[in-house]
Parts: sequence; structure tokens; C-alpha cells
Amino acid sequence: MDQRPIGVFDSGLGGLTALRELRRILPGEELVYFGDTGRVPYGTKGKETILHYACQDVSFLRTFDPKAIVVACGTVSANALEELQRENDLPIFAVVTPAARAAVESTRNKRVGLIGTSASIRSGAYEREMARLDPGVRVTARACPLFVPLVENGRFRPGDRVAELVVEEYLTPIKDAGVDTLVLGCTHYPLLMDTIRSFMGPNVTLIDTGAVCANHAADTLRERGLLAQREKGSYRCFVSDSIEDFTHLASIFLGEPLEGEVERVEIWRY
Ligand code: DGL
Repeated sequence: MDQRPIGVFDSGLGGLTALRELRRILPGEELVYFGDTGRVPYGTKGKETILHYACQDVSFLRTFDPKAIVVACGTVSANALEELQRENDLPIFAVVTPAARAAVESTRNKRVGLIGTSASIRSGAYEREMARLDPGVRVTARACPLFVPLVENGRFRPGDRVAELVVEEYLTPIKDAGVDTLVLGCTHYPLLMDTIRSFMGPNVTLIDTGAVCANHAADTLRERGLLAQREKGSYRCFVSDSIEDFTHLASIFLGEPLEGEVERVEIWRY
């Protein structure tokens, strides 16, 4: 048993999709969320910058003495995980491996689509992991740089003509490749799930990276006897930019009203 909190971070709002799942499956845990809203998006940045930001995000979360950290960001997971794990002596969970495993287990025709930020797709991390798990899987990958700004601006619902047009533009080659599974390789993308599903059709399985990462972290903590024992957990949210903007959209990501006050952190100090 370990009563300490679990730290969770992303470049912005996207990681709340993992926080939401963690709250659902581990209701007794205390969670500390950091969204680096002052520096989002990470997905258009180079590897060095992503690593620098990720190290600061982890340093901030470590001030809460967490028992583990969940990197609820495809971009950081694909570009900085090894360094973060090397430099921190606590379990750090990320999205690439559990998402790749879920895709390989789900596909029947061995054709998998992959979408993510430019930095995630450029890294090749998801493809490497899927090839390691099953060399027979063919992956059609596409960077979708407009998805994060759409989601951060609340433009993701079915019926939103801009969102539908961008989904069609990015996903047409993936649909044409005949995939039966699509990895949403960025934790912002589950917000676009309904719009993506109506374009791809009901026979394509969509992998929600935030949710699979949360489940992987929960299973591992359980196996190691590190879960907390309390009836009702809680969470706190920190951001590096406007609290109002975050609060407004966060409840949509979480699927419930935001609990407590959001606090602002000067992340460049860490
Ligand atoms: N939510 C993030 C990811 O999973 C990052 C999006 C961004 O900052 O570009 O990749």
C-alpha cells in the first residue's frame, strides 16, 4: 500500500482524458495534474525542447512526492521517456507501449492506422513498438497538427464543419489503406472520437491512448502493491497559463464539473 499521490502531466488539456480514466478505475487515489498550457503545443517542437519541458514538468510534480508519474502525452512519451526514466527513481508510465499493445491485439487484418502530433509521428516510436510486438502489422501513419488547436479551442463535436473537414482531410489516406484499428496517438484526440468514428465507420476500432495508459499504470501499481487504501480520492489541477480558459474546457474533458480550484504554476522555475 502507498498513500502518496500519482502525478499526471500533459502539454495542456489532453492528459485529462487519462486523469478521467484513472479516477474511474482508481477512485481511492490522490492525483496531481499538471497541464503546461503556457507552452502547448509540444507536438510542433523539436526533441530537445520537448525533453527540456518534460523534465521541468516532472520536477514540478516531484515536489508532491508522488509514488508514480503518468506521462499522459503521446509527444513526450514518444520523444523523452527513456531520459525521464533514467533520471527519475520512480515508476514513470507512458502511452506508447500500452497503445501499441492494444492496437496489435485488436487488429484482425494487420492493418493499423496511427495519428499523432508531428513530433510523435516523426519519432517513429509507435511504429517501432508495434513492429517489435508483431512484425506482420502494417502501419499507415499521419501527423495531424491541426487537431490539438481544434480541441484546445473546443472545436471537436460532430456537426462542427471545420472539425469534420480537417478529419476528412487527414484521415482519408488511412481509411483508404483499409485499416481495422486506429491509434489515437495523442491524448487530445479522444475528444474528436465521435467525429473520427463517424468518418472511419463502425468497423474500425479506435484506441484511446489516455485510457490504455491509465489502465496500464493502474494494473502495474496493483501488481506491485502500491495502490492507496482510502474510500474516496481527490485530484488537484495546476496549469502554467490562464486558469479561466483551462477551467472552462476541463470539465468537458473530464465529463464532470471540475473539483476544487485550479492553481497556476511558474513552470520555468523548475
Ligand atoms: N496531448 C499531447 C499528446 O498526446 C500533446 C499535444 C501537443 O502539445 O502538441 O501528444
